[in-house]
Amino acid sequence: MVEFDPYSYATHENPYPIYRRLRDEAPLYHNDQYDFWAVSRFDDCKSVLKNFSVFSSAKGIELQGRPDAAYFDVMTTDPPNHTRLRHVMSELFQPAKMAELEQLIRTTARSLLASCRETGRIDMIADYAGRLPMLIMCRLLGYPPEDDARIMQWTNDAVHTEEGVQGLTAAGIEGLINLGKYNEAVIAARSQASLSEDLVSHLMTALQSGRINHLDTMGYLQLLAFAGHETTTKLMGNAVFQLWKHPETLQSVLDDPALISGAIEETLRYDSSVQLQARTTTRAVEMHGRVIPEGAKVAVLFGSAGRDDRKYERPDVFDIKRNSRDHIGFGYGLHSCLGAPLARLESRIALEELFKMTGRYEVDQANARIVHSANVHGFQSLPLSFKAGA
Ligand code: HEM
Repeated sequence: MVEFDPYSYATHENPYPIYRRLRDEAPLYHNDQYDFWAVSRFDDCKSVLKNFSVFSSAKGIELQGRPDAAYFDVMTTDPPNHTRLRHVMSELFQPAKMAELEQLIRTTARSLLASCRETGRIDMIADYAGRLPMLIMCRLLGYPPEDDARIMQWTNDAVHTEEGVQGLTAAGIEGLINLGKYNEAVIAARSQASLSEDLVSHLMTALQSGRINHLDTMGYLQLLAFAGHETTTKLMGNAVFQLWKHPETLQSVLDDPALISGAIEETLRYDSSVQLQARTTTRAVEMHGRVIPEGAKVAVLFGSAGRDDRKYERPDVFDIKRNSRDHIGFGYGLHSCLGAPLARLESRIALEELFKMTGRYEVDQANARIVHSANVHGFQSLPLSFKAGA
């Protein structure tokens, strides 16, 4: 019988063979040890995500509860509360506004790469992808640069899991608490200060006009620290790794950087940085001839949906010319990712600037390390070497 353990390090290394067995042998799977259900086929994932009145986000979207669930953020609410919160947030991330960020992202990317240019070595995560999205988000929020390092540490700790342990590590809990204290202080300081153009100012205006309350504001700030950081970092790293594993494809991207966008979309399908999110059933519901009881946790396996041969031809082939945004790497339905335009922009520019510096590169696979997380998939360290000073 197929076993799927989202906390096992072996699953994190390569979940795809297990996903195939789940889709074929147990399309509605129950894990007895941790007591959750899982759907793995593309169409089932979409139908669960669509049916928010039965598959609710309001009890959290982690398989395990999180201590910050007290904040009603947009991800962990259902309509009508979700509709109100999503509206305020969607004003922050309009695609047109995102396009204005191109220069900020490019300049920040170049300054991160500068110190590596002459060495011929870069850790894709520690030196670059692990910093770029967070730096951009911190500048968008209006946080001072001297706080960058500790915000990054707190969020990194909060997504790390330990083998066989369900839930956060002690460092993760401390990271969330510290981030919460930090954001409380930001709100207190900004309520006394004059407002500017940044995201915190936008939220303070909504708070002061009564459109959102204090807890909502905290929810946005906590969420943005994660949303803007981990997932995009992992996407960039996974794209660079997959391109290296496919040398001809890498060469075509180096020859024609316009192909980078296709490589990013294909990475979101083939090796998505978000592997699963959970829902909680509001009533008993039947799927594949079995009944999921009320109040049960259901994992939606985004990473599996992208490899479903009921949906995609040759799903295990990394093909950047599929030219398809028809994946659910950014979710689907009313919770679909609001940051997708920003994530796409940052990833494209990050890879353009990286490849200008490296040309062909090698991955030091023996020293690459993946992050251990039940839902985020990607590297914590990905050392690359390239011809220095080219
Ligand atoms: C590669 C990068 C990213 C990936 C793969 C990703 C993936 C996702 C996914 C799968 C969801 C759906 C969650 C669910 O259905 O439970 C989601 C929602 C969301 N994402 Fe992203 N995300 C990324 C980057 C970002 C960025 C940069 C931001 C913010 C700047 C962001 C903000 C959000 C928000 C606010 C939601 C919740 C929307 C709602 O609940 O209505 N994401 N994202």
